[in-house]
Amino acid sequence: MRVKKAVIPAAGLGTRMLPATKTVPKEMLPLVDKPVIQYIIEEAVEAGIEDILIVTNRAKSAMDDYFDYHPELERKLAASGRDADLEAVRRAADLANIFYVRQKETLGLGHAIWRARRFVGDEPFAVLLGDDIMKADRPVIGQLIAAAEKYDAPCVGTQPVAPEAISRYSSLKLEPLEDRIFRVTDMNEKPTPETKLSDYAILGRYVLTPDIFPVLEQTKPGYGGEIQLTDAMRELCHTRFFTAAHFEGRRYDTGNLCGFLEATIDFALEHPASGDWLREFLKTKL
Ligand code: G1P
Repeated sequence: MRVKKAVIPAAGLGTRMLPATKTVPKEMLPLVDKPVIQYIIEEAVEAGIEDILIVTNRAKSAMDDYFDYHPELERKLAASGRDADLEAVRRAADLANIFYVRQKETLGLGHAIWRARRFVGDEPFAVLLGDDIMKADRPVIGQLIAAAEKYDAPCVGTQPVAPEAISRYSSLKLEPLEDRIFRVTDMNEKPTPETKLSDYAILGRYVLTPDIFPVLEQTKPGYGGEIQLTDAMRELCHTRFFTAAHFEGRRYDTGNLCGFLEATIDFALEHPASGDWLREFLKTKL
């Protein structure tokens, strides 16, 4: 198995970051000096992904524009000798081969992934959720790809979360295979304290195989009345070998205000243009 394609579902309404996301797609909110979605695409590219499909909706055209050339702006930057800005603006458009498909109706994550079936064909593919931003020495999706390729099986990214937090995620039933790699034997979406399978949560990164599509096609609406990817994966893990990688790295949930601010502060502290200044500024505030 070799993973060369990725799917980024970005058709959510962004109701957790209102009012900002009333008209600005949540994927376009700036994290320091780049939109959130650029971090996701850079992670995929760093892991060797060449083709990326973004599943969008009618309110997301700012995102397609961002990954396109902008000749008028580029001419202006070139004429005024702003080479670094010009380079940054061009780089975003040249990061990867980016394709788009619209979800048309917000029927859930499983349905968004199902919209990718033509793009994926019969290849394995990565899935990166736009709300989950990772800071890691080795791209998190690359860690999953390594496990998926080794075991020739799908792989979900996981970390243990606090017992009171697991109800916000999918929980996993796991059997150890080797250091940080598990076999998945069951999973459930948004468990209660009674139904949770463990405190290992799926956190926004997946490597899937095309056999997920026929299952998705049959998957009935589940939690929240939506077609859940977890429900389809659950069925698959009962019939085929399925793995999970306890990835190394810090995950930020940028879909809510506090997670977004954590990511902003951590990334700004590391950014050459703002790190030293922010450290001093925070000292004066605390
Ligand atoms: C989604 C998935 C869930 C996963 C979570 C974190 O939930 O449905 O299984 O654990 O992302 O990646 P959401 O955050 O959309 O409620």
